[in-house]
Amino acid sequence: MALLRNIGQLVRCLAEGGQGEVQPIEAGALVWQGETIVWVGREADLPVAFQEEPSIDVQGRLVLPGLIDCHTHLAFAGWRADEFRERSLGATYQDIARRGGGILSTVEATRRAGQEELLERAIGFAGEIARLGVTAIECKSGYGLDVETELKLLRTYRRLGQEVDLTVVSTYLGAHMVPPEWDRESYIDLVCQEMIPRIAEERLAAYCDIFVEEGAFRPEEAREIAQVAHRHGLGVKLHVDQLSDLGGGELAEEVGAISADHLEHLSSHGVAAMGRSGAVAVSLPFASLLLKQTSLPARKLIEAGVAVAVATDFNPGSAPTYHLPFAMALACMTQGMTPSEVVKGATLFAARAIGLEREVGSLEPGKRADFIVVDAPSCDHWLYHLRANCCLRRFRKGEESVFADTGSAACH
Ligand code: NIG
Ligand code: FE
Repeated sequence: MALLRNIGQLVRCLAEGGQGEVQPIEAGALVWQGETIVWVGREADLPVAFQEEPSIDVQGRLVLPGLIDCHTHLAFAGWRADEFRERSLGATYQDIARRGGGILSTVEATRRAGQEELLERAIGFAGEIARLGVTAIECKSGYGLDVETELKLLRTYRRLGQEVDLTVVSTYLGAHMVPPEWDRESYIDLVCQEMIPRIAEERLAAYCDIFVEEGAFRPEEAREIAQVAHRHGLGVKLHVDQLSDLGGGELAEEVGAISADHLEHLSSHGVAAMGRSGAVAVSLPFASLLLKQTSLPARKLIEAGVAVAVATDFNPGSAPTYHLPFAMALACMTQGMTPSEVVKGATLFAARAIGLEREVGSLEPGKRADFIVVDAPSCDHWLYHLRANCCLRRFRKGEESVFADTGSAACH
């Protein structure tokens, strides 16, 4: 048994209440045993039975659930800084994709890379991500677009989950684009008849994601792929309404998606459909900003009772950074969300978006002891005076993480 005490603000993020209700406790304490939280409350109310337990005095700091990045494309080869430069001069994401850059250029590089090389790089990223206070992460394939490379990416994630101090949830994104060597119908057959069954059989992914956009997949194709995914026991996620309104909210409702991500062009009908569906809306502020899109209609979604999560979308094209607290601060600045709403979006609602809500995402007895100590007096202050890294201590499954000082592993 162990105890955190002298907590300035202890933010619980319980499922009860809306987006902005994070149930803060001032002058709090938290007790855990092994991997599990056993007591949370005001220090003044700490039961006598726990008072002699070994304790850590956090000196008035902020304590919250370990952060969850519920949308990343973590494993890939190469970078695309040239595109960043071109976009800064006015080229659009679609212009770059049409001339053979974009996703397909990362596919080429990733096909050439070996699994060990991908894994080594992903481990480097994961170490830096963990230091920022993240305890769970979702990772998508989608830079293979052939059987061998999609499996290579998903096996990389399986190994990653065994080797790093993060909970890793894998998502198959074979329907990211149609690769040039296939016509669309045959590629969709490959996804549905070969890739999904194989991935489900080897339990390499929990979810199947589909990029629905002009130049990627059409809504009717997404319906077919989602049906096959469900039949094989995979949950469904959607990259949708990112660059244009293709009825993403309605589609999420229809296919029973656990989350619909991006949603920059979501219509008011789409907002209502999201409200009915129970799907989590995942906001990705880096991608919105980098591709010069308006942000998703966060306020309208929240008013419609939709849970809005916040994630990085880390990938080499539209969101080349994995700094989740920075994405959270941006969500406050550009999406009209308060710091408390954003904190719930990167903890409990992020857990919901990847099916982990029963285990993690909030601080309450019975949940896993995944929590962080942040060098700020409150959520408001943390995201307002954002510094390079405010995470002072990180606990996952009740164990404090010790980070070796390896420097940046991400620059090659
Ligand atoms: O979430 N929109 C599709 N996929 C990624 C971008 C991938 C890339 O550009 O490499 C996204 O923005
Ligand atoms: Fe994405």
